[in-house]
Amino acid sequence: MKKVGIIGAGAMGSGIAQVAATAGHSVVLFDTKAEALSLSKSKLASVMDRLVEKGRLKSEEAQEIQKRISYADHMEALSESGIIIEAIIENLDVKKGVFSSIESLVSKDCILASNTSSLSIASIASACERSERVLGIHFFNPAPLMPLVEIIPAIQTANEITDEARNIIDSWKKITVLAKDTPGFIVNRVARPFYGEAIRILEEGIADVATIDWAMKEIGGFRMGPFELTDYIGHDVNYVVTETVFKAFFYDPRYKPSFTQKRLVEAVRLGRKSGQGFYDYSPGAVNPKPNTDQALGTEIVNRITAMLINEAIDALFLNIASAKDIDLAMTKGVNYPKGLLAWADEKGLDMVLTQLEELYKNYCEDRYRPSPLLRKMVNEQKTFY
Ligand code: NAI
Repeated sequence: MKKVGIIGAGAMGSGIAQVAATAGHSVVLFDTKAEALSLSKSKLASVMDRLVEKGRLKSEEAQEIQKRISYADHMEALSESGIIIEAIIENLDVKKGVFSSIESLVSKDCILASNTSSLSIASIASACERSERVLGIHFFNPAPLMPLVEIIPAIQTANEITDEARNIIDSWKKITVLAKDTPGFIVNRVARPFYGEAIRILEEGIADVATIDWAMKEIGGFRMGPFELTDYIGHDVNYVVTETVFKAFFYDPRYKPSFTQKRLVEAVRLGRKSGQGFYDYSPGAVNPKPNTDQALGTEIVNRITAMLINEAIDALFLNIASAKDIDLAMTKGVNYPKGLLAWADEKGLDMVLTQLEELYKNYCEDRYRPSPLLRKMVNEQKTFY
């Protein structure tokens, strides 16, 4: 079994270390900050205690898992790794520096992976002399609980490295999907309208925050509404992803960020963590009740899901991933109630197209343009499954 090296002992690195150690690997977790390492170690101990209390792990197993992880404040400790996963701050120059230094320490067949959410893998790989061994391995937060992992080969990555990395992550009992090295990969690209279109409906005054969240949960079947979810993620984090994806798509209007969310960030109303976002979380705060009119709710759900489906179809059109992987990504990475392509079949592709054409006609905005693949499939009377 390969030794696993993890760079960055924050939320993601610590979670990935737990997953790898649980699968039986010996793991070295490296961080430049001693406090990050001690915090990671104590958090893992309490997670293990809870799993033992709940009967999910035997006490000896929990001890073994913890013993398999060693904590290091110097990069040299990673020299015997067979695979390294980097999960440090989301900054291209810093990541490239780390990839360039790590390459001189490890054996020539060590796989080098980044957990980046939004940076180009080709660009990170370019920092290495043997760039064919570099790829993206993108976990979701919290890594021990979320089943999905996106595997992202760069244009430089050797096929054998992609296969080997995928086999390793599959053996960690994760569900892997293969994604092209394009902004947001699958999930962070296809999910944009969940936030963006909901905010747009709010900005137009069609419905308020509570009503849109209610509709998406009660009628749409989503686990959380878009406003609850962005308050939970943090508007600083969610806004940066939106802005990064927008810029990376050369300013395609489909991914345009909103002023509403930008102002929340500027006002430091970051969501739950700051006590206020779209909702007020201060003690005793009374938030508005939803308008539970079914017709309005259905209009909201239809509009947002049509935009999500269009995004999923366009990802398929541009060969970002297979239909199966696009559907798996959204159900296993962000808990959507159904795969979007399966949902498209269920709704009827002609219905989805009509809805998008209506929006496009009313607003004359490029963001509502239907994917050419949707139009083609309707013309040919085809379905995805
Ligand atoms: P974090 O801020 O919780 O942890 C980053 C850790 O990296 C910190 O402990 C920091 O001390 C350490 N670090 C920074 N520079 C370093 C260096 N040069 N060498 C060694 N350690 C260094 O960040 P988080 O949330 O764990 O994110 C890490 C990566 O994972 C980012 O690329 C992020 O985009 C990606 N990601 C984050 C997700 C999330 O929901 N938080 C989800 C999926 C991916």
